[in-house]
Amino acid sequence: MSDISSQLHGGYAHSLSRSWQGQSRRITKSMFMYPLFISDDPDAEAPLKGMPNQRRWGVNKLPGFLEPLIKKGLSSVILFGVPERKPKDEIGTLADDPEGPVISAVKTLREKFPDLYVACDVCLCEYTSHGHCGILHADGLINNGPSVKRLADVALAYAKAGAHCVAPSDMMDGRVGAIKRALIDNGLVGKTSLMSYSAKFASSLYGPFRDAVASAPAFGDRRCYQLPQNARGLARRAIVRDVGEGADIIMVKPGSIYLDILAEARQLAPDHPLAVYHVSGEYAALHAAAAAGVYDLRAQVLELSEAFVRAGATIILSYFSPELMDWLDA
Ligand code: PBG
Ligand code: ZN
Repeated sequence: MSDISSQLHGGYAHSLSRSWQGQSRRITKSMFMYPLFISDDPDAEAPLKGMPNQRRWGVNKLPGFLEPLIKKGLSSVILFGVPERKPKDEIGTLADDPEGPVISAVKTLREKFPDLYVACDVCLCEYTSHGHCGILHADGLINNGPSVKRLADVALAYAKAGAHCVAPSDMMDGRVGAIKRALIDNGLVGKTSLMSYSAKFASSLYGPFRDAVASAPAFGDRRCYQLPQNARGLARRAIVRDVGEGADIIMVKPGSIYLDILAEARQLAPDHPLAVYHVSGEYAALHAAAAAGVYDLRAQVLELSEAFVRAGATIILSYFSPELMDWLDA
């Protein structure tokens, strides 16, 4: 009964996650999940310097910003917390602070927009003093065991606050199974989807995001836990592993320069919804190129979306989601 491999309900508990089980080739508004940066300053609406049109939002400002987008067809968001006021520590205590930005925003959004699908990114790097995605040994290397335990606690707190989906982006080994187990043990597995950043590569395309959430590592880099850029084999193994550990949705990240991996993920997990993250550096580069006259922004974003769907994606995490609600018909 409580076997990980028997848990399917979490993947289709919501009408939107039910629609993602279909594998149509047409690009639709409901494929787009909009990443939002949530400040712990409730009145924030601070523009981000590396990401045109994006802001760090305070919980009080969020409903007013989202309402018109939801009216136009935005159906899902994924939340990233940005603690700006309280001090960070070694274990990322602020990640599941009951008064923290993510938990407050989940509750507010669930209450104000009952039909909006709310996902929460699960990671520690926005909350740790050292800026790494897990808990560290004294020598600065990742201590996987306690990291996984901590991430499962954070995911559970988000699920309890009402998140439809928890999405671990930390890349620790075994975290998908640990989170699934925590959801099972707490009676939430039937209503909370688990989206795994399975094939997440150590990329030079995350810079604007790290500026936005102040999560650049204080020392070292993320190459010992994010995948090497040449690692097709590791990506395949991670996808198969996460399917086995109970992921409801598989993700590949970044997007445009990892289309080959996305196509492989479609083969390896043919029966799962497949997400692709069109990341901050891709977003900023598209804006810069369009401003330089290289191409029309709308035409290029639509062409890229077509490429993601052609390669097998059914969900696209995109900072262009607001514009796409105007650019797409349905
Ligand atoms: C951190 C995280 C990152 C992104 C999502 N979650 C950055 C990183 O791994 O350093 C990148 C998203 C983007 O660039 O848009 N766990
Ligand atoms: Zn992280």
